[in-house]
Amino acid sequence: MSNQSSSGKPLKRIHLAAHFPGVNNTTVWSDPAAGSQIAFSSFAHLARTAERAKFDFLFLAEGLRLREQNGLIYDLDVVGRPDTFTVLAALAAVTDRLGLAGTINSTFNEPYEVARQFATLDHLSAGRSAWNVVTSWDAFTGENFRRGGFLREEDRYARARQFLEASWRLFDSWRGDEVVADPASGVFLGDPEAGRFAYRSSEFDIAGRFDVPRAPQGRPVIFQAGDSEQGREFAAASADAIFSRHGTLEAGQAFYTDVKGRLARHGRSADALKILPAVTFVLGATDAEAREKAALVRRQQVSGQTAIRLLEQVWNRDLSDHDPEGPLPEVDPLVGEHTVSRGRASVRTGRDPLAVAREWRELAAAKKLSVRDLVIEVSARQSFVGTPARIAEEMNRFVQSDASDGFILAPHLTPGGLDEFADTVVPLLQERGVFRTEYEGSTLREHLDLPPVPVRTAEEAI
Ligand SMILES: Cc1cc2nc3c(=O)[nH]c(=O)nc-3n(C[C@H](O)[C@H](O)[C@H](O)COP(=O)(O)O)c2cc1C
Repeated sequence: MSNQSSSGKPLKRIHLAAHFPGVNNTTVWSDPAAGSQIAFSSFAHLARTAERAKFDFLFLAEGLRLREQNGLIYDLDVVGRPDTFTVLAALAAVTDRLGLAGTINSTFNEPYEVARQFATLDHLSAGRSAWNVVTSWDAFTGENFRRGGFLREEDRYARARQFLEASWRLFDSWRGDEVVADPASGVFLGDPEAGRFAYRSSEFDIAGRFDVPRAPQGRPVIFQAGDSEQGREFAAASADAIFSRHGTLEAGQAFYTDVKGRLARHGRSADALKILPAVTFVLGATDAEAREKAALVRRQQVSGQTAIRLLEQVWNRDLSDHDPEGPLPEVDPLVGEHTVSRGRASVRTGRDPLAVAREWRELAAAKKLSVRDLVIEVSARQSFVGTPARIAEEMNRFVQSDASDGFILAPHLTPGGLDEFADTVVPLLQERGVFRTEYEGSTLREHLDLPPVPVRTAEEAI
């Protein structure tokens, strides 16, 4: 077991996380082995597998409105997900070391409420909580909330920054030594100023006493998942980790260089921010078998109906009568403000639909692809396909060549989709000395090699 690469550079240790499969067409619900995405047994199974494999954390994505297409709930994917805090709190009770990361929106919530929930989760889990701060743009989602569709796209990171600052003020309002509980003097709280906070900004005007004493990690680990210029700056200034979508080697390296290059300007070292792309995997006894399985999984993920629905998202018109096994429609996409699909991030690619249609037509003609074959090809997201040895080698190469600091693995099956990876790939990474064989620390900050959060003085905290 060597801790140096052949170039003499110290080997980086890989961070691994488990993404609970959910509301996306990458989750195969039609497989006989697929289970519930709501039952607690599914969450517990994935969490226990991840902890058995010594993963850093389990990750929950979030969506605050059911997606629609042509005015109807989009029912080809998994639909519906339970509340993040409730699920993570329940998981805290059936795990001991695994980090618990939840995606919580900074547009439709309030800092006091969210800080209280994370501080509580951090206590319940003894220091294992993480918050993926997302900034949903979507007026459609906003209709579910008191504020309706408020927040223009350009304002949502301003609110996110202020939201995070306000939350830090709340977390830091307790130092951790205030509760003395001294029977001799009869004093429970040793500092009458404990929990006092005030925060005023363009979005918030809050003041009072925070009612959860200092959490074991001080603050939850902060994740960020946006990709825009503003999103990257927000992460460079304030996040401990980024959940990225740059899962190929070249795109990963470009993203890594860009974001790590921003940290010095914020007075931070390059290892203060971990970059973890979402990736998928398909394992086989041979590489050929894995490729065959991967092709089968793609056909499960993209049924004929799904292919037509994904096509409609680009064409922006009802194509329900179109044959998925036939050629692309001759008619062009409709360009305009109204979109047939609502609440789906992939619709906002920013690309000209006419150019996309042209590109797809050329590809379909060159390779003689049906609509379904084409959609399978252009929406491919499988990152690692092969034997356990090949996947271990490729993952390690990816991390050692600075395309990431690790991965957030999104299995295609709930709840058993991580079992084989845990049993076959993890031991190979451990043999290479690039993944832990035991948890060394107890908090998520420790798993991610992040420094502890400093305790503020009373003056700094207010
Ligand atoms: C890999 C990845 C995962 C994301 N997961 C979620 C999610 O679960 N829920 C959500 O509301 N937004 C999610 N987002 C959206 C972003 O956090 C952000 O709100 C959105 O991308 C707009 O920010 P941007 O313009 O900086 O990209 C995700 C984004 C990325 C890149």
